[in-house]
Amino acid sequence: MSRNFIPLSVPCLRGNEWAYVKECLDTNWVSSAGAFVERFECMAATALGADHAVATVNGTAALHIALKLAGVKADDEVVVSDLTFIAPANAVRYLGAWPVFVDAEPRYWQMDPQKLQDFLRKDCVYAGGTLKNRHTGRRVAALLPVHVLGHPCDMDPILEEAGAFGLPVVEDATESLGVRYKGRPAGSFGRMACLSFNGNKILTTGGGGMIVTAQAKDDVVEYIHGEVGFNYRLTNVLAAIGVAQMEQLESHVADKRATAGAYARALSRIPGIRCPEEPEGAFSTFWLYSILVDEKMAGTNSRALLRHLDGRGIQARPLWQPMHLSPAHRGSYATDCTVSERLNRDGLSLPCSVGISDSEREQVVSAIGMITR
Ligand SMILES: Cc1ncc(COP(=O)(O)O)c(C=O)c1O
Repeated sequence: MSRNFIPLSVPCLRGNEWAYVKECLDTNWVSSAGAFVERFECMAATALGADHAVATVNGTAALHIALKLAGVKADDEVVVSDLTFIAPANAVRYLGAWPVFVDAEPRYWQMDPQKLQDFLRKDCVYAGGTLKNRHTGRRVAALLPVHVLGHPCDMDPILEEAGAFGLPVVEDATESLGVRYKGRPAGSFGRMACLSFNGNKILTTGGGGMIVTAQAKDDVVEYIHGEVGFNYRLTNVLAAIGVAQMEQLESHVADKRATAGAYARALSRIPGIRCPEEPEGAFSTFWLYSILVDEKMAGTNSRALLRHLDGRGIQARPLWQPMHLSPAHRGSYATDCTVSERLNRDGLSLPCSVGISDSEREQVVSAIGMITR
């Protein structure tokens, strides 16, 4: 790694992480039981205004269990955002169920509630309390909106549709810890929400996840330890890091928002660069600061810009391949997903680690300015 390398998003471990991990080692509480696991769960539940939380080895495991608890069975369908990291779609497949991908809306890039409604009302038939996709004949069992990039989905219309058909909602809140929608935390709207504490997230335990729910924890634990038995528990050592990280949630959010503000001020002067907006009624963390590059106006495109930045030691990354195009999810049904295709083509995430310096950010902006017209 060159000295001037500016990474996309790296952990920031500046609190009590060392002290708490040392406490685990000093007291021999290193495994999957221990006071830090409980504290971590309690802090996560409090952050989302929920009653209970169960720590897991990662966010994908949390999604797997949450969907199972929501009653998803083999050959069911689960409605998932098309523009997302692949993990939620994979979690659906772990259960032998199938994702149905719903396009992103163009302004804030989250699941499009109108296209969701069209799918549920026009492409499905509701009979005898069961909703079936008329194209595949499969039962639609749950909704899995993903709050991407540190912004919330528009939950009101999504919950309205869920209510109309009695569908449980599992929120993928892995990228949205600290985000609020109409004053309430993202992840507090569905039956369950899942968090991730992977290394690139706003808080990290190296690897870790969480199921947050209003359901009694005992039920969840019993269920996990029931006939299927998935051992997805997080260790006390990692939970110790999690507790130290949770103590810094507010400051990390403030740092991300400051970075977003500074980028927006500087980048708005560059033609063809569209900065992310905070949705109305939302409080965003801008977890992964991502821009759109309009090729005609900018005189360059997102991939050429990516290579240009890479050549200057600046790590950028395209947005994810839309799920309906993923070879891993061939055979899944999808709505028209032209918006997520365009966002994938034009989108680029920029360095935005908590603690990124003004000078690093300025280097990113000036490198972008060099190649755009
Ligand atoms: C939207 C989304 N869902 C799920 C996950 C999975 O989390 P983990 O990496 O902790 O398994 C991630 C990221 O890592 C993600 O970005």
